[in-house]
Amino acid sequence: MNKDSVRVLLVEDDEDDYVLFRDVVSEVKHLRIELTWVNNFQHALVEARKSLYDIYIVDYLLGEGTGIELLQALKENAMEKPFILLTGHGDHDIDVQAMKEGAADYLEKEMITPQLLERVIRYSIQKFFTMELLRESEKRLRQLSIKLINTQEDERKRIATELHDSIGSNLAAVKFEIQKQMTDLKKRKENFDIDHQFKNLTDIVQQTIDETRRICHNLRPSVLDDLGVVIAIKWYCRNFPQSYSNISIDADLKISEKEVPEPLKVVIFRVMQEAFTNVAKHSGADKVKLVFEKTDDKIILTIRDNGRGFDISGKRPEKDCFSGMGLMSMKERVGNSGGSFLISSAKTKGTEVQAIWPVLSCRV
Ligand SMILES: Nc1ncnc2c1ncn2[C@@H]1O[C@H](COP(=O)(O)OP(=O)(O)OP(=O)(O)O)[C@@H](O)[C@H]1O
Ligand SMILES: [Mg+2]
Repeated sequence: MNKDSVRVLLVEDDEDDYVLFRDVVSEVKHLRIELTWVNNFQHALVEARKSLYDIYIVDYLLGEGTGIELLQALKENAMEKPFILLTGHGDHDIDVQAMKEGAADYLEKEMITPQLLERVIRYSIQKFFTMELLRESEKRLRQLSIKLINTQEDERKRIATELHDSIGSNLAAVKFEIQKQMTDLKKRKENFDIDHQFKNLTDIVQQTIDETRRICHNLRPSVLDDLGVVIAIKWYCRNFPQSYSNISIDADLKISEKEVPEPLKVVIFRVMQEAFTNVAKHSGADKVKLVFEKTDDKIILTIRDNGRGFDISGKRPEKDCFSGMGLMSMKERVGNSGGSFLISSAKTKGTEVQAIWPVLSCRV
């Protein structure tokens, strides 16, 4: 569309109606309309494929199909443009159906005036253009979010490796040196209760080694890379009560490692990790049930606690529920990898988070 010219494809199987429409078009002011007419469904698809038009105006009844079916066919073939449906008087159900399918507007044939037509065309094209910009911007945001999550994962891996290789090995060397000095002192019989004197020091070094190891594992558990996500989940569930002894975990893993697509493994582990952190931080629960399973066409991770729950059905649940980073990053990670993220919770009823991936469309 240039500034004052619009190319319209009219799909109308009744020649008399076409002539009436053409007369209305000839009276439109402020907008030059280049009108092309086709009289059937198939011909409309052939014309649309040429990508010459700024807008489609389509009669509902087209003989071998309906205008709404044509709209669906155009969408399926990525030939979308603003779409206006024409029909007889009072077809409210068709109006609603057209709107749900994404039609820009709906016009009753008898009511069309040059002014109305001009305005509906202008608004429809502008709305479509704005939606295109929005879709583009959403696509860029999604790409950015994928990149951000991947970068965060790489960074965690790098920090874990550096911690392990530098501080971890230095601490091991310090511990070794202390023990060596103790042995030497004992040999020289300069033992003024050496074990007692050094106990604090060796305890502190050992605690720092343990803490460094814990941080490394949280950043990126090597078991995930070495042995896979199923064993990593088992390992995590076994270790969790060491930090939170009041919470018992029942883990039901009904899936084998080879059934989990490679790119999903780290996503699944992170979702589980964040869900358990939330249980520990917010729920007050003493029981958590984890189920990791594969049905015919889905991979499903479910984590349910028996804690205090929270209100996700408030006035603005999206805002309230996703105000922290945890739920939001779970939703992003699952969405970016082609899955859907569900959360259900109610006060005093506990919380359930669920991530579901269709088996064939996992992507990262
Ligand atoms: N298992 C749960 N039980 C009870 N409340 C929960 C649970 N999980 C989440 N919530 C509620 O949802 C809110 C949002 O959780 P989210 O993980 O997004 O953020 P956060 O844990 O508060 O902060 P962050 O994860 O960024 O450190 C929490 O503050 C808490 O009120
Ligand atoms: Mg959280």
